[in-house]
Amino acid sequence: MNYYIKTFGCQMNERDSEKVEGILLENNCKKTDTPEQADLIIINSCAVREKAENKLYSEIGRLRFRNKKAKIVAMGCVAQINYEKLKNVADIVIGTNAIDEFYNIVKEHDINGVFIKPNMDKPDYIFPHLNKITAYIDIMYGCDNFCTYCIVPHTRGREVSRKKESIIEEIKRLVDNGTKEVMLLGQNVNSYGKNFNYGFVDLLYEVNKIKGLERIRFTTSHPKDFSKDLIYAIRDLKKLCEHIHLPLQSGSNKILKLMRRKYTIEEYLEKIYTYKEMVKDGSITTDIIVGFPQETEEDFEETLKILDEVKYDTSFSFKYSKRPFTKAKDMDGQVPEDEKLRRLNMLQDLQAKITQEKLKTYESKITEVLIEGVSKKGNQFFGRNRQNTVVNLDFMDNIKVGDIVSVKVTRTLKHSLVGEPV
Ligand code: 5AD
Ligand code: SF4
Repeated sequence: MNYYIKTFGCQMNERDSEKVEGILLENNCKKTDTPEQADLIIINSCAVREKAENKLYSEIGRLRFRNKKAKIVAMGCVAQINYEKLKNVADIVIGTNAIDEFYNIVKEHDINGVFIKPNMDKPDYIFPHLNKITAYIDIMYGCDNFCTYCIVPHTRGREVSRKKESIIEEIKRLVDNGTKEVMLLGQNVNSYGKNFNYGFVDLLYEVNKIKGLERIRFTTSHPKDFSKDLIYAIRDLKKLCEHIHLPLQSGSNKILKLMRRKYTIEEYLEKIYTYKEMVKDGSITTDIIVGFPQETEEDFEETLKILDEVKYDTSFSFKYSKRPFTKAKDMDGQVPEDEKLRRLNMLQDLQAKITQEKLKTYESKITEVLIEGVSKKGNQFFGRNRQNTVVNLDFMDNIKVGDIVSVKVTRTLKHSLVGEPV
């Protein structure tokens, strides 16, 4: 069987696509570069905003037009919640928690198959990886937070943590095959291990002991559960990189409450300041939603103020999008689309300036880069420093993918750095 795969959405989805590819390759299937060559076309969908969901339907139409014979499989977050609608346009629909059975499903079913499980029932199953320098590791599945804008608790089910032994075993196997960096993934990694007698920080200490592993990252942290112990771990553990992604969502306490985020802006800032104080050269990134219901100009300005105060290295910002099953979709005071766009542009302009300021601080300095690959043009290496900033450097004979190189930064681009090895 030849397969073509297209992925929308977050790192969780990228990892799910990799799992599916791994399963197919283990069963002697082959990957194709174009949909025309495939017997099986897989689309991994994202439901977090309406725009992402709409893209899925247009993409299925386009792919069906390019290849009328292939079997089309829709998987991912939209598949999990909108299978009734999807089964009319895709041949097979596989939800987020059913991908362990992916191969048998596609082998045995041709049309009209819907395969959905409400929660992850085999969290400790070790899925295959495609060998890479940096690898994504799910440490937990699902989410129990129910922020009022968010569809994820519905698309990914209830929170369940993987056992430490299974995670360590997975990482050891990867390191034996050349992996240098792991990114530990969860919707809220700080609540890892709720039902165990160990937690996320304990897990980090264990992972840090793995011989041959060079770097550890994690995402995403929920500010309400982001602890001092974690900050100390970032300071103390040699392999744990100095970067946190701490989604702010809004700078207004009124909006945070409506979002059911369970922290105040004062509590959030206190954690940021502790991190800045304890962790030398630590970077911070965030997610922000503009135009949440009842967000006034003053509320929005409070968000801008936090941007200026924290000085995030990067922020990912979005216009609020109404999602099914969520509380916010029925709230009064929905903000008009053009106003959301105006706020988004303002915020992104401010962030672009801050990002440049932050990047400039690296100029002429030496930063440590893990070489992840070769640029599309083939004349440069790219990698990331410990702070998660992308760094490009010219080809050199004595450097190879997987090396950790000290690089002197010579220039800054819009979102990345350019340098030369020293
Ligand atoms: N509308 C806009 N952005 C959203 N996000 C999650 N749900 C929505 C929504 N309904 C954003 C949040 C989250 C990121 C992954 O996506 O900022 O942190
Ligand atoms: Fe990822 Fe959320 Fe999109 Fe699902 S809905 S792909 S969990 S961002």
